[in-house]
Amino acid sequence: MENKTNSRPATNNLANNLTNVLVIGGGGREHALAWKLAQSHKVQKVYVAPGNGGTALDPRLENINITDPQALLDWVITQNIALTVVGPEQPLAAGVVDLFRAKGLRIFGPTAAAAQLESSKAFSKAFMQRHGIPTAVYETFSDAKVAHAYVDKMGAPIVVKADGLAAGKGVVVAMTLKEAHDAIDFMLLGNELGVAHNGGEARVVIEEFLSGEEASFIVMCDGKNVVTMATSQDHKRLLDGDAGPNTGGMGAYSPAPVVTPDVHARAMREVILPTIKGMAKDDIAFTGFLYAGLMIDADKKIKTLEFNCRMGDPETQPIMMRLKTDLFDVLWAATEPTEQGGLQDIELEWDRRTALGVVMAAQGYPAAPRKGDVITGLPVLKQADYEQEQDAMVFHAGTLDKDGNTLTSGGRVLCVTVLSDSVKKAQQRAYELTKSIHFDGAQYREDIGYKAIKS
Ligand code: AMP
Ligand code: GLY
Repeated sequence: MENKTNSRPATNNLANNLTNVLVIGGGGREHALAWKLAQSHKVQKVYVAPGNGGTALDPRLENINITDPQALLDWVITQNIALTVVGPEQPLAAGVVDLFRAKGLRIFGPTAAAAQLESSKAFSKAFMQRHGIPTAVYETFSDAKVAHAYVDKMGAPIVVKADGLAAGKGVVVAMTLKEAHDAIDFMLLGNELGVAHNGGEARVVIEEFLSGEEASFIVMCDGKNVVTMATSQDHKRLLDGDAGPNTGGMGAYSPAPVVTPDVHARAMREVILPTIKGMAKDDIAFTGFLYAGLMIDADKKIKTLEFNCRMGDPETQPIMMRLKTDLFDVLWAATEPTEQGGLQDIELEWDRRTALGVVMAAQGYPAAPRKGDVITGLPVLKQADYEQEQDAMVFHAGTLDKDGNTLTSGGRVLCVTVLSDSVKKAQQRAYELTKSIHFDGAQYREDIGYKAIKS
């Protein structure tokens, strides 16, 4: 067999040829990305590694049970996959993009060095400080005693964050000094959270409490050019009214009205463009999805809460419902190896309606989700349904297709996502659909989108 590993597939062959693509990951975000990619007339098959119970049921998608980056690389080469897109942060932090690129393969995502914007809070905070990007005042600690003394000096409320990937669970917004001290002990003494930064030890970032309204500001980058995705807002807390522990996200909607045109311009000017320029200047060009978690205060001033080096989950689900442009074309352009960067002339077209997604989570999520419950009431889609435009989709996350049943297999199980003319209508419809789906112990918030609904 001819060895194709050192050449990229030629662009001009593509227009007439159907091609196979790979989505790495198995959550709701990856289901939504794969679902959207499968709508492209240029795509023959979308493989998802490892995928979930939802991607298993869609005839246009195929799960492959591989997660190790080296094994994925070998598989992609033998299967002649034209393009890979990475959903979650772990494979990015583990260097899957570096590995693929070293073999000349097209893959959309940041290198391991660039992924530090997410994988190390200490890296991203120092980066923001160095490049004048607005963020909360902070300090980094590995010694619990010194951290306790800092908290006593600063007072509450204050925020304690584990330095490393913690799936949204490594942040304690401490309203009292006791909560802050407990969080330091939990994260540093004996490292009960089990999160380590790149150097291998436990470390925390302690930062100023910011108040305001959050929004998810996500863009695509090719190292030089930036294309903005539709705005969105997540709901990080487990319970209605933003109470309870932080989670990976309990629901999202797009667009987010808090991102007014003025806030949008400010976010680009103050956060996104300096970040892309700063990364290039530091010789770690950023390619991939860049997600800035923004805090917008009453004066519409913004600060960066965090960077993620990937799309958000569940933000991706409503965003993909609204995307009208062919996602394959966009990712192909973004990975085009040109001097100017392939995104230079790309503009995305969005459905003007609102998309809203409600996450159904397993009993015990986020601390200890129960697995193995049978899910009933899921909409049954036929081949023809996939070929129609859909304005309601149940994206799967922690699910498993077993002996004709769909079982729960993780914390966040489903994201019931609909498109409608207003946030209120989308909310009503999403909850109607949510209530028709059952599994033991299912929990979901009843108020997704509430900040965008004027009473
Ligand atoms: P992070 O993973 O850093 O985005 O933190 C998770 C969540 O904790 C954010 O979405 C916010 O809701 C909250 N949070 C993080 N940092 C702060 C802060 N400095 N002030 C207030 N809330 C914060
Ligand atoms: N939904 C928040 C995140 O993806 O990090």
